[in-house]
Amino acid sequence: MAEGWRWFTEGRLGLFIHWGPYACIGRGEQVLFREHMEQKAYADMACAWNPRFYDPRLWAATARDAGFRYACLTTRHHDGFCLWDTATTDYSSARQAAQRDFVADYVAAFRAEGLRVGLYYSLMDWRIPAYFEPPDRDPAAWAAMRDYIHAQVRELLTRYGRIDYLFFDGLWPRTTEDIAGRELLQMIRELQPDIIVNDRLGTPAGETLPLGDVGTPEHHITVTGKLWESCQVTTWRLWGYAAGERWRSPAQWLDMLGQCAAMGGNLLLNVGPDGEGRLPAAFLDGAGELGRWMRLHGEAIRGEGGGNLTEFTTWGWQTVRGNRLYLIFRFWPGTTSMRLPDLESTVLAADLITTGQPLSIDQQPGELHLGNLPIERPTSLFPVIRLTCAESPRAGQWGRERLWGGDPARVAEWARTRGESVWRDGASTTSTEGAHHD
Ligand code: GLC
Repeated sequence: MAEGWRWFTEGRLGLFIHWGPYACIGRGEQVLFREHMEQKAYADMACAWNPRFYDPRLWAATARDAGFRYACLTTRHHDGFCLWDTATTDYSSARQAAQRDFVADYVAAFRAEGLRVGLYYSLMDWRIPAYFEPPDRDPAAWAAMRDYIHAQVRELLTRYGRIDYLFFDGLWPRTTEDIAGRELLQMIRELQPDIIVNDRLGTPAGETLPLGDVGTPEHHITVTGKLWESCQVTTWRLWGYAAGERWRSPAQWLDMLGQCAAMGGNLLLNVGPDGEGRLPAAFLDGAGELGRWMRLHGEAIRGEGGGNLTEFTTWGWQTVRGNRLYLIFRFWPGTTSMRLPDLESTVLAADLITTGQPLSIDQQPGELHLGNLPIERPTSLFPVIRLTCAESPRAGQWGRERLWGGDPARVAEWARTRGESVWRDGASTTSTEGAHHD
């Protein structure tokens, strides 16, 4: 992996920010489309948009305290309204009521807090019918459309210093050839050599892999190549601000983060600030809780590589960093000891990061017993135990292989190695003892 990308895998947690004039309506970022609004009524609303409380320094401080290491702001969503001072159109926050380049303020504020800076850009523009028609229908109009996109991306990458991440969206129903995706990507790399580009620029005809560097599974957590990031809402459905939204709990946010880290990927967790530019109270509460957890337990999340070394589904997630194995408990044992099977490496020390207390170790071949655990769950979020091993942690065969799935002959082998007594007590017709059972 390119050295310049290490911040991405190291950081693991990014903040997605969906913000635009749609936030004033409070029914998500796609309200124009989903509710079949009149373009004119929407545009009037967008041009009058003048948020009173947009202060990205507050957003950035909140993000940093919550443990986010980078952010990604919607510079333009499918409604086509631009949040920066573009020379390509007057349909922007800079040329309408707000008279402000929101992107400039965002980039400066997040950079000042030491966060990496990402920009989201929608290729699709709902205002322009030509985007949805085959380009050969009016090649000149299409070429103008394509140039408009390239010019906007160029502006975003030349006006604000270093940009770390570019998140495209909304290519459908166009192809990468239609938008000259290859040329676009080449321009991006020339302008910002270390940038990471997501995988939504389409797959060139005849190829199997999409352009770009990072997979972006949306609303689900799936390994999609070497570098991937799941984007998820902190609510239940919409990305843009929704007034009557239901929120996921911080434990659910953390669950997603733990799963991504265990599977070797990132989490881009979303917030939709309201029309005035305020982060919703429920988000601020959750971010506070997440931050308290991250300050103590962040080392279990940060860093390249995944985990899930042994079968740990009964408890939660595992991650590996160097010689350490982290056990992230979604479910706390509730007993003073626990048994962890299948770890082969010698464990030198174990401690409960949550309270700082050392745990006792009793290691036998193929199983580790940890003692001195508090019966009460030591945090309402996820407690973490850190195991320091003599080497990079390794699991034995049954820890590595998941038994459900694949060749059932493996299960037969597994069952056989469980030992003689099971065999005799079971339903085997060759067992004489078994025959006496009932
Ligand atoms: C989608 C949606 C959009 C959202 C995005 C986030 O494709 O169209 O509203 O911004 O994904 O990944």
